[in-house]
Amino acid sequence: MNETLQTIAQRKSCRSYQSEMIKDEELQAILQAAIQAPSAMNRQLCEVFAITNPEYIDKLTDAIKTVYEERGEKKPDTYHFSYHAPVLLIVSGPEYDSRRVEDGSCMLENIFLAATSLNIGSCWINQLRDTQDVDEVREVLSQLGIPHNHQVVGCAAIGYMNQDAPAKDKKQERIHIVK
Ligand SMILES: Cc1cc2nc3c(=O)[nH]c(=O)nc-3n(C[C@H](O)[C@H](O)[C@H](O)COP(=O)(O)O)c2cc1C
Repeated sequence: MNETLQTIAQRKSCRSYQSEMIKDEELQAILQAAIQAPSAMNRQLCEVFAITNPEYIDKLTDAIKTVYEERGEKKPDTYHFSYHAPVLLIVSGPEYDSRRVEDGSCMLENIFLAATSLNIGSCWINQLRDTQDVDEVREVLSQLGIPHNHQVVGCAAIGYMNQDAPAKDKKQERIHIVK
């Protein structure tokens, strides 16, 4: 296998992170990988916001937790939506862009693969997407500079892993070669 295929095979979701910030050049490399993703008609409308200030990430956690509680889903006191990872990458795109989900998801997968290639842990985080239109969450998104007309496609938690683990087995029966 070449290095790219090895990276793809090694990628897995990490849910326990060291608090240490990743190096600036590592973050830059991951962000470049994100914007290198394909986009429908090369419109490049999705954007990535790298949040490294823990106060903002904690604010988001508090707002998300409140929304889930209002929806009747109590979270434990220890709940932290991005597992205390030092970096949260938010991928969003304009509401009017009908290919936002596809474009943003390509960016997210590039983020996961770039992080894996640098031995940095990563995980897709979905809670912000599910709660983004509630006022208290939107208020924090505005503070982060995310435009009002943007919808969050998904987020990536990024950081050094507390412990490494093998990637999960995947269901081989999902592959079909039609001759
Ligand atoms: C659309 C999507 C949403 C996800 N949301 C979350 C999430 O909110 N929190 C989380 O811990 N993992 C989330 N995941 C990660 C999946 O749980 C994970 O990819 C799956 O269990 C397979 O494990 P692997 O990534 O290690 O192969 C999400 C993955 C996808 C593709």
